Amino acid sequence: MPKVTLMPDDVTIDVAQGENLLRAAMMADVRITASCGGDGTCGKCRVVVTDGAVDTRPTSRLTEAQVSEGYVLACTCSVTGDITIAVPPESRPGAVPVPARSGRILNPVLSLDEQAARMPEKQAARDLCKVLVTVSEPDHADNASDLARVSHAMRRLHHVKEMEVTLPALRELPGALRQGEWTVTALVTEPSRGAALVTGFQPGDTTDRQYAVAVDVGTTTIEVAIVDLVSRVTLGQASEYNGQVDLGDDVITRIIASTREGGLERLQALVLHTISTLVTCLLEQTGVAVEDVVAYVAAGNTVMTHLLLGVTPEAIRTSPYVPAAAAFPWIDASDLGLPGSAATRFITLPCPASWLGGDIVSGVVAAGIPWSDKLTLFIDIGTNGEIVLGDKDFLVACSCSAGPAFEGGGITHGMRAAEGAIEQVRIDPETLEPMVLTIGNAKPLGICGSGLIDSVAELFLCGAIDRRGKFDTAQPPRIRPGEHGLEYVLVCADESGTGRDIVLTETDIENLMRAKAAIFAGINILVESLDLTLDAIEEIVVAGGFGHYLDLERVMALGMLPELPAKRFVFLGNSSLSGARLVAESRQMLEKAAKVAEAIAYLELSVNAGFMEMYLSSLFLPHTDLSLFPNTEELLAQRLREKVVS
Ligand code: FES
Repeated sequence: MPKVTLMPDDVTIDVAQGENLLRAAMMADVRITASCGGDGTCGKCRVVVTDGAVDTRPTSRLTEAQVSEGYVLACTCSVTGDITIAVPPESRPGAVPVPARSGRILNPVLSLDEQAARMPEKQAARDLCKVLVTVSEPDHADNASDLARVSHAMRRLHHVKEMEVTLPALRELPGALRQGEWTVTALVTEPSRGAALVTGFQPGDTTDRQYAVAVDVGTTTIEVAIVDLVSRVTLGQASEYNGQVDLGDDVITRIIASTREGGLERLQALVLHTISTLVTCLLEQTGVAVEDVVAYVAAGNTVMTHLLLGVTPEAIRTSPYVPAAAAFPWIDASDLGLPGSAATRFITLPCPASWLGGDIVSGVVAAGIPWSDKLTLFIDIGTNGEIVLGDKDFLVACSCSAGPAFEGGGITHGMRAAEGAIEQVRIDPETLEPMVLTIGNAKPLGICGSGLIDSVAELFLCGAIDRRGKFDTAQPPRIRPGEHGLEYVLVCADESGTGRDIVLTETDIENLMRAKAAIFAGINILVESLDLTLDAIEEIVVAGGFGHYLDLERVMALGMLPELPAKRFVFLGNSSLSGARLVAESRQMLEKAAKVAEAIAYLELSVNAGFMEMYLSSLFLPHTDLSLFPNTEELLAQRLREKVVS
């Protein structure tokens, strides 16, 4: 069997003759970025063969120089003999998926208290899952069954009209009652409407120990929080790459992967493994006992939700884009193999449409929009731009495909927001010399979404690119001819962490412009669908960690978001997780989330006649209609005046 040694991890594994090199790395637990899921199209899985040889095929994703240095795309290689490969830093997804970034946080997010103040119902709502029951000890005169005694006490003490008990709970009851000297804590999952489903019994009074796990099931990152349901304090929070990233960056690639033999089971196992590892770690850190975790609440996009539950998302990919379900049954966490007791429930937030998931429902609740009088625009920017417009009386939403540019996909030196990613950029208008800040203050490895937005906006404001995103002329040494036209050298080889120049090409700029055009067009179509103008938006809620680092002036200069006063912008951070946490704390929130999912009207942009027209107009910097961006117009005029004077 051929041996594959992966450096710098120094891991060696035996593989079958002809094994795919990317799969070999996966088997060795060595992470390599594989944005296209091994399709050979993204060019992100570059590795260097330092010893031995592989069977590979020609690719346009590598330059001649790289090929002569030994670079190959791992996903296109078959192992035919012993080899050693080096995985360069830029081909690794990064050690920490949501790092504490080094740059200044431009937009502080609302605190949990500020969020709570936006939702009056939360104050009243406080449903706990454990109920204390004390019964009299049986004797010859009163020899009713254990269950009858507990049911009677539940009716008398907690006004429960009907009580159902699961079989595992019934098995626990006799022992718990006697061990607790006729006092037990019942774990109840349906405490309202006078009905109760009891899923477990614990001896004695354990009502002061009730915890929930809130989960944001992101396509790239999974984030988990442990919440004390009694004090409402978040005890711990952690995140990790979604284990599925090795099978592709975006939901379409994952859907395709799920249709391969054993693919659905594999994808489900990977995401559950990530959640399970994070929860186990947090339980250990916080000292919370696994039997005191009463519920999980998970929010994710529609595809992630399907994959998490092992339901095929195949039909979501093709017209008419139908999910298997919009609302999902409650299940036991043990059915998914997650840490918890037999009574721990797993609740998934509903997904109103194929391209509008529980993460957005969760975010809308966390933003307090269902209680707000203000016309609010909610935006979650990622591979898909999900946009919701509304207030307490109505909600209308759309989803536009922004592509992977904001996560570094389709960008020559793009990467996710991990250590070494360029996150902030300023360019001197005279010399075009850049100043870059990276995450973790590490040597630059590539450009993440916020760095890309900054770079393109700066090049535009400096006059180095025109309104079509094209470089004017070569201005050595920074703007030079590259393999695919002119390119801007953001970091020179001797300053980068990869030993190569980090550049921004016209194709990269084009990809960003497509992404920003889709978002701006989506916002416009939503607003127009209500016969309103952009100025009518009273508040813009920007969701996602990405929002912290967005420089609003530059985002508007690109024409990505409408030019509105900065004070109308609110930043929520991970609103999907915040919403899941709120739902875990309160049944009223859960009911509100279900109502939001039912009430949201979904606007399908692919069949909207005006969308393409608006999209094409938005493929300029900032837009063909400059009157929509008066501040940027003024900024450009000012820069021009300064240039003329100098
Ligand atoms: S090119 Fe290999 S994973 Fe995309």
